[in-house]
Amino acid sequence: MTMARRDALAALAGVAATTCAAAATPGAMRAGAGSADGLNALAAAKGRRFGSCVAWSPPAANRGSFANPAYAALLTRDCGLLVAENEMKWRALRPSATRFDFARFDAIMAWATAHGLPVRGHNLLWHQPKWMPAWEETHDFGARPAIAAAALLTEHVTTVCRRYGTRIASYDVVNEAVDPADATLYQTALSRALGGAAPTLDLAFHTARRAAPHAQLVYNDYMSWEPDNARHRAGVLTLLEGFRARGVPVDALGVQSHLVTQGTGMSAAALEPEWRRFLDAVTAMGYDLVITELDVRDNRLPADPIVRDRGVADYTRAYLDIMLAYPRLRDILVWGMTDRYSWIEGFEPRKDGVRRRPCPYDDRFAPKPMRAAIAAALTAAPARA
Ligand code: G3I
Repeated sequence: MTMARRDALAALAGVAATTCAAAATPGAMRAGAGSADGLNALAAAKGRRFGSCVAWSPPAANRGSFANPAYAALLTRDCGLLVAENEMKWRALRPSATRFDFARFDAIMAWATAHGLPVRGHNLLWHQPKWMPAWEETHDFGARPAIAAAALLTEHVTTVCRRYGTRIASYDVVNEAVDPADATLYQTALSRALGGAAPTLDLAFHTARRAAPHAQLVYNDYMSWEPDNARHRAGVLTLLEGFRARGVPVDALGVQSHLVTQGTGMSAAALEPEWRRFLDAVTAMGYDLVITELDVRDNRLPADPIVRDRGVADYTRAYLDIMLAYPRLRDILVWGMTDRYSWIEGFEPRKDGVRRRPCPYDDRFAPKPMRAAIAAALTAAPARA
């Protein structure tokens, strides 16, 4: 057995032991709220919730799944809220135009329900050709394409919302519809058939409101506070203004929060004024805020893990201090609890080849300075009514 493998197993045993000890202590573990020393307990003390994404996998697979006991231990320790990383997307639920496959998402819901954890819905429409199922881009919408496209979208949103009823209280109805390159809306085969991108997004929200009148309806996007996101932020503001002007039922902006450190040259404080202007504009339109996918790409930081972890933690703390000053922010979700399963390693590895460290726990399941930074930000946050 390699040293790394031995260390990983020891760390996993440590997590399991901590969790078992907590479970054995009366009152230490509260269903649906995480353990008493968990991040959700700190959030709850301030009228907020902390959560994470979770994946589906076969039992005991080495994945960020509820079926992986080591990952599940992190979820039950720290989370009061979950979201499926991939299993509610069209690509997962819609093998074809005529079929739904709910097996994997249902399994996530069943585990979350058994552990008293609410689940957010992500998402009802990821409006980019790249992320729709392959069949959608070549789908034949027939002689009356606008009617067929509206029917397809309405059926999708209604079927998902009705299936889960009040068990899902918040949906990312539309995900990432704004092209950051030019701030326009993406088109898909669906929107071209339906008669435009804006009518397509509007229909998704109106349908979700009808099918899930109890739910918070969210527009979710990754426009971030780093300077190269200015055009993306402008496009999102234009979209949000349009929703209000057209009377579209959108309750909140999902601020994904895939943060990117800027090295030592630019401090987080330099990003704050422009970011506050954006958040102020969003909240002035009456939108609530949700941090839906927090993680940090450790760019422009040296390979040394101690230095990188410090940089990531400080950046996270500065960001959360700003976000938590907004009473319209209640829920904070990270996009994965441990570095081991983060999407970033596969999608955007570091140029120097060292593993990314974007999450609150490292790839051996040990808490990192980022977790302490989140805890400190929650502890320092103003209470929310
Ligand atoms: O389903 C196949 C599986 O059968 C196969 O074994 C495996 C082999 O690589 O690939 C699997 O699909 C992958 C899936 O993740 C599950 O692992 C897809 O190729 C891959 O594209 C997919 O990536 C996800 C990505 O969204 C696209 O859906 C990431 O896990 C997920 O973290 C990422 O999440 C997005 C949010 O939904 C929206 N905001 C940005 C965020 C990060 O990109």
